[in-house]
Amino acid sequence: MKQKEYKRYLVTSALPYANGPIHIGHLAGVYVPADIYVRYLRLTGREVCFIGGSDEHGVPITIKARQLGVTPREIVDQYHTQIKESFSKLGISFDIYSRTTSEIHHKTASAFFKKLYDEGKFIEKETEQFFDPGTGTFLADRYIVGTCPRCNHNHAYGDQCEKCGSTLSAEELIDPRSSLSGVVPEKKKTKHWYLPLNEYEPWLKEWILETHKEWKPNVYGQCKSWLDNGLKPRAVSRDLDWGVPVPIEGAEGKVLYVWFDAPIGYISNTIELFPDTWEKWWKDKDTKMVHFIGKDNIVFHCIVFPSMLKAHGEFIVPDNVPANEFLNLEGDKISTSNNWAVWLHEYLERFPNKQDVLRYTLCATMPETKDNDFTWKDFQARNNNELVAILGNFVNRAVVLTHKYCDGVVPTCNALTEYDKEILSQIPKTIESLESHLEHYHFREALKDAMSLARLGNKYLADTEPWKVAKTDMERVQTILNIALQICARLTIALDPFLPFTTEKLRGILNMPAALPWSRFRDEVLLAPGFTLNDPVLLFEKIEDTTVQAEVDRLTKGSAATETTAAAVTEIIAAFPECTFEEFSKMDIRVATVLAAERVPKTDKLLKITIDTGLDTRVIVSGIAEHYSPEDLIGRQVCMLANLAPRKIRGIESKGMILMAQEPDGSMSIVSPEKEMKNGSVVN
Ligand code: MF3
Ligand code: ZN
Repeated sequence: MKQKEYKRYLVTSALPYANGPIHIGHLAGVYVPADIYVRYLRLTGREVCFIGGSDEHGVPITIKARQLGVTPREIVDQYHTQIKESFSKLGISFDIYSRTTSEIHHKTASAFFKKLYDEGKFIEKETEQFFDPGTGTFLADRYIVGTCPRCNHNHAYGDQCEKCGSTLSAEELIDPRSSLSGVVPEKKKTKHWYLPLNEYEPWLKEWILETHKEWKPNVYGQCKSWLDNGLKPRAVSRDLDWGVPVPIEGAEGKVLYVWFDAPIGYISNTIELFPDTWEKWWKDKDTKMVHFIGKDNIVFHCIVFPSMLKAHGEFIVPDNVPANEFLNLEGDKISTSNNWAVWLHEYLERFPNKQDVLRYTLCATMPETKDNDFTWKDFQARNNNELVAILGNFVNRAVVLTHKYCDGVVPTCNALTEYDKEILSQIPKTIESLESHLEHYHFREALKDAMSLARLGNKYLADTEPWKVAKTDMERVQTILNIALQICARLTIALDPFLPFTTEKLRGILNMPAALPWSRFRDEVLLAPGFTLNDPVLLFEKIEDTTVQAEVDRLTKGSAATETTAAAVTEIIAAFPECTFEEFSKMDIRVATVLAAERVPKTDKLLKITIDTGLDTRVIVSGIAEHYSPEDLIGRQVCMLANLAPRKIRGIESKGMILMAQEPDGSMSIVSPEKEMKNGSVVN
């Protein structure tokens, strides 16, 4: 199939949530490939606009704010600034990096919703949602905690259990509680607006399944499975006090669902960048739009957002969505909450001049077709065995020898041998392959092609041995070095999309004032004879074992200590609302002794415990079976909350709660009086 010729390229990269720093998973999945692609397009002289920005709405932001005891605004201000700066230091070359709290975004997103609303594109529906009677607010699924129905983990969220990874709905949680107030949530009626995705299904099927068979198999496959299963209307609003207010009467306390407003951020940011000419980017069929995202974003970018754009009617839809799979770290899933991650801002502090080593490693291990693994050993090996030993070594030899034998001046190219011709004939083939891989989002292969030019140069010098030939045949040395230097100059083009800091250094060494455009790639002479080079500097330096071992150690220590301990405990403490003395006095906490204990059948966690409270004998059901066996408990003194409202758990009436201390990793200990006390003694 012949590819359509486009006039310009609108490249977007997923807007990261401004509730935490950027890590290598984000980079390998989205920002490194997007940046390589746009740098390449720019070099080829195409008109490109590269959109980035922070996603600053939604429940993830409000949760983080609550944990830290600050406002959502403070959270997004802090992280937006940090993220923007770290991207820029890594050379991610956005044309704009803005934010969804901007005025222009609120205006754009409101207007988008309003147009669809006015044109009757939404369904209005009243449904029952979880409501926290304690705080008087509706509860997002994430704000409901309880016991996981799959693995019994006692702190699963209403949307997901982080222990076993299951996707959940709040309805399924055993013993659901509001994480805002601790009370049991109720159901309450509320009105919302839904985009009837089912109405767009025929169009989506035709558009994706018929006309975009070239999409990556992982992307096409996910779309196909969504479409085969049938689409349902999706709510585009939420009961929340943080976001873009729903711009119609009678919608107080409601905001646009974050996945409705965030992708509109691509449009808002284009408007902010080009207030007068933004429309050609979004409304002209000759614009090729490409969304760079991670696999968890596929449905939103291939199904939901295109349906929104289609409903709106004026906008183009993406030509491709080259989503990546996930990057793991040292064999384990990257996890923010376990601090199992390499954070960009920290990397940049510890390796201030090694942006390209990270860019290189992440591109070489990019999870293009399946999940992939980042290891510090691999990082070291890529640096030492590829960047230093091949690229750095070749350039250094070519330039040092030119200084030694030709006074640093590019020598003439004399008669070519058959071997020279064979070497030179590789170059156009490599360029062709490189271009094709870049055009088709095959970045790992593209990087291999670019590096193969350095390998070629390295091999050429090793085979021709100009340092030996110099004793007998200076004319031959000139030819060899000329060829080697032309390859060096080509590397400034080939590697420019991938390693922009290195190519800048290399141009400095070769005394090339500006980057050469891609169109010069096939020229035979990039450095004219007689041209004077600068002194060589090393492009890369070896990374020692101790350096990477220190990183591995940091990682293991960091994850043992985790955010959950130091920072997060403070966060969690700060997140509790103040408790008055009266409120505390309501709790009747007493010492009691365990008389009997047994497992509750068909559960892993629950023990039925009979205790002597000094006032009565009663039964408490407690979720501690993973930490204590019944025998451990019999005869032990415990502290208990005696006046907790009785609850039925697995059909057993539980009267009270045994107090437990819990560490962030989940380990638990009973709280006992320090010396034996009379049962019924009051704790306060
Ligand atoms: N913030 C989302 C995430 O990190 C991505 C939003 S992409 C956008 O998964 F299109 F909605 F902006
Ligand atoms: Zn679970």
